[in-house]
Amino acid sequence: VVGCKIVHINTIPTVDAGELSFFEAIHDVAFEIKRIYYISKVPEGTRRGFHAHKKLKQLLFCPYGRIQLVLENEKGREEIELSDPSIGVMIEEPTWREMLWIQKDSVLCVAASDFYDPNDYIRNYEEFKKYLDELGR
Ligand code: TYD
Repeated sequence: VVGCKIVHINTIPTVDAGELSFFEAIHDVAFEIKRIYYISKVPEGTRRGFHAHKKLKQLLFCPYGRIQLVLENEKGREEIELSDPSIGVMIEEPTWREMLWIQKDSVLCVAASDFYDPNDYIRNYEEFKKYLDELGR
């Protein structure tokens, strides 16, 4: 997906008892994980996101439900549906993201490379496009 990588998360199935997924710092994620956050209790049809980050790297995954991601960066714009707990999306460059909750109560989890910093956000789409242009120069 555009400049973002689809990653397979280590997953161990158990007969008739579900599956267990995991990833480890250093071994499975190339950046130092400094923060985990998750978005839950979201009604079906809700859209969130509408921002990009300048520096932050993130691994997004959906341990429960169905969430559509729209991702846009230097390389283009693409949609991807997250519905498999063993699949994640690695965002490593400035990428505009919009998330649509296709299924009620879907959970979006994020492992991030840094602490929360409001100054790392670009919350205006036109500003994001300008930021990309400036990077490209
Ligand atoms: P925001 O990133 O705007 O969520 P979304 O893009 O999904 O709509 O975050 C929502 C609020 O939570 C905003 O006020 C910032 C705050 N927040 C923190 O305080 N710490 C965090 O780690 C994150 C991700 C958000």
